[in-house]
Amino acid sequence: MKSLLPGEFAPETVYLDTAAFGLPPKRGLTALHAALHDWGAGRRTPGGDDEVDRLRAGFTRLLPGATPDDIAIANTVGTLVGPIAAGLPAGAEVLVAEGDFASVTNPFRYHGNLRVRTAPLERLAQEVRPSTALVAVSLAQSADGRLVDLANLRTATTAHNAHLLLDVSQAAGWLPLHFADADYWVCATFKWLLGARSVSLLAINPAAAELTHPTSPGWYAAADRWSEMYAPRQLATTARRHDSTPDGLGVLAARIGLDLIDELTVEAVGAHDLALAQRFRTGLAALDIPAVPGDSPIVTIPGEYGRADRVEAADIVATTRNNFLRFAFHVHNTSDDVDRALTALGEK
Ligand SMILES: Cc1ncc(COP(=O)(O)O)c(C=O)c1O
Repeated sequence: MKSLLPGEFAPETVYLDTAAFGLPPKRGLTALHAALHDWGAGRRTPGGDDEVDRLRAGFTRLLPGATPDDIAIANTVGTLVGPIAAGLPAGAEVLVAEGDFASVTNPFRYHGNLRVRTAPLERLAQEVRPSTALVAVSLAQSADGRLVDLANLRTATTAHNAHLLLDVSQAAGWLPLHFADADYWVCATFKWLLGARSVSLLAINPAAAELTHPTSPGWYAAADRWSEMYAPRQLATTARRHDSTPDGLGVLAARIGLDLIDELTVEAVGAHDLALAQRFRTGLAALDIPAVPGDSPIVTIPGEYGRADRVEAADIVATTRNNFLRFAFHVHNTSDDVDRALTALGEK
């Protein structure tokens, strides 16, 4: 199995670490170099509202049913979860998954006036109760790639009138998504979307927009930002009210990464990534190395089998998380990458 985009990526290592940070495509780097040049030459500062609009539109293509008006932009996932926490009534119960990524749960945990209840990922749907106001969970777990059973969870949240926030930072780009399946969608662009560390997106279902509250609106969140810079009148009436001033270079990189995924199609990317992960899982089984089960391009193995030092010595980039060694397979990877990782792990 070849790279889906031969010529677009130039890793000098066996890069199996998209779950930590995606590789930038060449077309993104070329555009960034040009933008930096123009900036340095004093001709054009990086960024522009048109690129932000294109990025919002790109995200709606990954989330069929959403419109650009439903999309807010900020630097981080944690920042974008804040307005959802701020909109909940005092004392509301938020259900989260044990071991989920901190940016998904901290805005609720440290809000000061919310009750956070934790349950194992596998039991999340059963744990939704009439007292639950919101469930906040990563669709694909960052630590080990496990997927939440979305159909069951959505049935449970609907039955109990609870809202659902999904973090799709580890899922968007390879897993088909549908806007109607959750009330809020938050996503970092720097992993599977091949974007930038400084750009994250939030999609808000209009029916659940009332329950969000802007936490730190700057000039960029105003209804008419250019005329209200010194004369505030009102915040945008769309999800843009949760925008914070974007980093132009990041937006450019994120827009190009997203367009590239769109061009390949999420279905083709998912098939490629999952096939490589499956090849890896089959090879691990033959080596008697256990892996956390799941149908995900993120594969983790217990640290004692992973021997991070051995993997690193073979010039393979993977990450240790929670005493597990985590491998992630994406568009630039090939079967040869998988086999090199298996060889390193199998060496006595
Ligand atoms: C599931 C998930 N959400 C969010 C993030 C990033 O969060 P933030 O943008 O707040 O740093 C990561 C990884 O860095 C992640 O794995």
